[in-house]
Amino acid sequence: MIEAHSLTMIYGNGHKATDDISFDIMAGEIVGFAGPNGAGKTTVIKMLTGILKPTSGNVVINGYDINKDPIKAKMSFAYIADNPDILIQLTGLEYLNFIADMYEVSEDVRKKKIGTLSERFGMSDVLNLQMREYSHGMRQKLMVISALIHDPPAWILDEPMTGLDPSAAFELKQMMREHAKAGNAVLFSTHVLEVAEQLCDRILIINNGKIIREGTLDFLRLDNPGMTLEEIFVKLTGRPETQA
Ligand SMILES: Nc1ncnc2c1ncn2[C@@H]1O[C@H](COP(=O)(O)OP(=O)(O)O)[C@@H](O)[C@H]1O
Ligand SMILES: [Mg+2]
Repeated sequence: MIEAHSLTMIYGNGHKATDDISFDIMAGEIVGFAGPNGAGKTTVIKMLTGILKPTSGNVVINGYDINKDPIKAKMSFAYIADNPDILIQLTGLEYLNFIADMYEVSEDVRKKKIGTLSERFGMSDVLNLQMREYSHGMRQKLMVISALIHDPPAWILDEPMTGLDPSAAFELKQMMREHAKAGNAVLFSTHVLEVAEQLCDRILIINNGKIIREGTLDFLRLDNPGMTLEEIFVKLTGRPETQA
């Protein structure tokens, strides 16, 4: 459902941020994209969503190439960016309506969705405030709600738990599980391994722009018996102080 084929990204300054990254996320799966800061997670996600054009390689989402068939591809996934600080002069409700317009969500459906999702994330009382008044966590929750309004099959989430309070994080994890169980695909990046450990069917570990290990938790533990995911991760990627 989310296919990355040999994604290489060389930024304008010559920095090779990702090197020949390929994976395929199937319907019904939650896949965690784990790696230290600067590993290349956001770069890959921006190529998946069509924000960045890869130097080489291509992306197919729900059968549509993100660069050849961008509208159809983009209609079929929800995206949460790593930074929720956009369009902060809009009220929460204005922003949600803007997204609902873009994805052609009917008045009836959007009203129902905005109602239930706002309730679930404790945002009902603040929808008429400008987003500049929101805390980071509230902005993040609004991004989550906006991504779920149009209910597409694939979810692509860049560090979605960052800044969420425990109950919002719980709700989001629950929704990710429900979404995958209903036969959809969820890819999320994280540098917090507990989250990956709780949620994922499969984990891709990225370091220095390359996928260095991939598989189920059980598979990753096979050559590292008795180790936690965190210990395996540190062993594979090196300790933080040795990172560039
Ligand atoms: N616009 C850019 N120009 C040049 N280098 C960049 C740019 N964006 C990110 N990088 C570099 O690419 C690497 C990967 O960054 P990123 O994808 O943001 O990693 P992650 O999301 O895993 O923390 C880092 O070394 C980062 O400094
Ligand atoms: Mg990132």
